[in-house]
Amino acid sequence: MTGITLDEYILSYSDEEGVLLSALNRDANVNLLRPRMLSGHLQGRILKMFCRMLRPRRILEIGTYTGYATLCMAEGLEEGALIHTLEINDEMEDFIMKYLPRSPHKEKIKLHFGDALEIIPTLDETFDLVFIDADKRLYAEYFDLVFPLVRQGGLILADNTLWDGKVLEKPHPSDKQTAGILSFNDKIKEDTRIEKVILPLRDGLTMIWKK
Ligand SMILES: C[S@@+](CC[C@H](N)C(=O)[O-])C[C@H]1O[C@@H](n2cnc3c(N)ncnc32)[C@H](O)[C@@H]1O
Repeated sequence: MTGITLDEYILSYSDEEGVLLSALNRDANVNLLRPRMLSGHLQGRILKMFCRMLRPRRILEIGTYTGYATLCMAEGLEEGALIHTLEINDEMEDFIMKYLPRSPHKEKIKLHFGDALEIIPTLDETFDLVFIDADKRLYAEYFDLVFPLVRQGGLILADNTLWDGKVLEKPHPSDKQTAGILSFNDKIKEDTRIEKVILPLRDGLTMIWKK
């Protein structure tokens, strides 16, 4: 008996999140309304590891929130690589700018404020990695918009695809977020242009590989 939980054990045997991200995480938990939205220590280290393994040159993140996941992915990128991260809520700017400029990887991040549905068509890029993590009602739309911009062999990650287990229940008619995740998951299941697997990490992270 060690007196710690399995989650604590996993974190204690994985890399630390570091001083900057740990301060961001604490600040978000004290001062923001929905701190659970940020990726957190374990998923953050996994996103960094994906970047180490895949060595993407161009990343698109849809839904910045605090910039936690952005900073994690930037840590795993090589020099000259770039993340475009999109956030609709410009009230997050002060929080994001408290931390992003302090990262030694800040040059690898381009932050855009506005609606992803409007910004994505203006991005003149081909992406190696896309992280979909914004409005759950719009996941299918983000996917359709971004798919032509992903190179063959590129990876799309979609967060929260188990949606707190609600994917197993019939959604209440007013619950548009659960309905959005359900229709996204159905769409991905049927799409023959991709290979996919749901990682049972945190709230479900779907990995989608473009053939
Ligand atoms: C779950 S949080 C993102 C968390 C972040 N990716 C992380 O892992 O730390 C979702 C964010 O998406 C933003 N968002 C929602 N709809 C959006 C849209 N259409 N375009 C851009 N951002 C959007 C929200 O304002 C919110 O800050």
